[in-house]
Amino acid sequence: MSDSGGEWQVARRRKGASRSSKSLQVSLLVAASASVSKPPEDTDTEDRPEKVGEGRSCQRLECVCYGLGPFSSCVASRYQLAMLLLLLDIPLKDCSVYDPAFSSAEMDVLRELGLTVLTENEEGKRLANNPTFFYLMHCGKALYNNLLWKNWSTQCLPLMVIIGNSFSGMRERTTEKEFKRDYSYISKAVDFSVERKLPCPSRLIDVFNDTAVITFPSNSLNRLPQSTWTEPPEPLYQHSSDLEIILKETQS
Ligand SMILES: C[S@@+](CC[C@H](N)C(=O)[O-])C[C@H]1O[C@@H](n2cnc3c(N)ncnc32)[C@H](O)[C@@H]1O
Repeated sequence: MSDSGGEWQVARRRKGASRSSKSLQVSLLVAASASVSKPPEDTDTEDRPEKVGEGRSCQRLECVCYGLGPFSSCVASRYQLAMLLLLLDIPLKDCSVYDPAFSSAEMDVLRELGLTVLTENEEGKRLANNPTFFYLMHCGKALYNNLLWKNWSTQCLPLMVIIGNSFSGMRERTTEKEFKRDYSYISKAVDFSVERKLPCPSRLIDVFNDTAVITFPSNSLNRLPQSTWTEPPEPLYQHSSDLEIILKETQS
């Protein structure tokens, strides 16, 4: 991935791009080139799942957007969708979107735009096989926690750039007991991820407040004890009464 910084040119160079979208673009470029463009430091390739993140030939940049919200009726969601479209400099079909709240008309609009609309509720459990931007604006903690769990390895985490709520903000707003018990992956990741908070214009406070670009630099991950990565248990959320995630329907 030595030269993939250029591939992470997420900035869609539009003259009309707003100031906030430009500062987000800059933060993304800085974040991406700081982490994803560096090859993982460990050299033991044998037990890696395929050739994750190695070499340009197997690189396909992707974006996954969860929890955009019902953008035909919600102004914040509409702004967030606009920002997503401004940011993407990859084929729009490589951006997958999912929210159980989408109406069928909204899904049609997203398809018309060229995005890939997922029809299955993944509960955020999407493995990053390629460098991937995850765009999760104001989503529930369980969605982030599931995403981290699925990618809980020194190979996969560095492939991710999350644009979403600040993990340290989540820690501040949650009791320590609940945070560690129910959101253990966020609670661990907050100590080794790198967050770049995004400036938010006051008139867009409801749209982009508490937003950060979050990355997982390989060198920080490789310093952690190997036990950190051993058989991570799937999150269950048995104690959470107000789970801010819609789970997939179980077949009876
Ligand atoms: C607090 S709302 C945020 C909506 C919008 N992004 C905003 O800032 O107003 C959280 C969103 O996450 C969505 N959501 C819940 N479970 C989800 C899941 N399993 N996958 C994707 N999105 C989900 C909800 O439907 C909701 O639209």
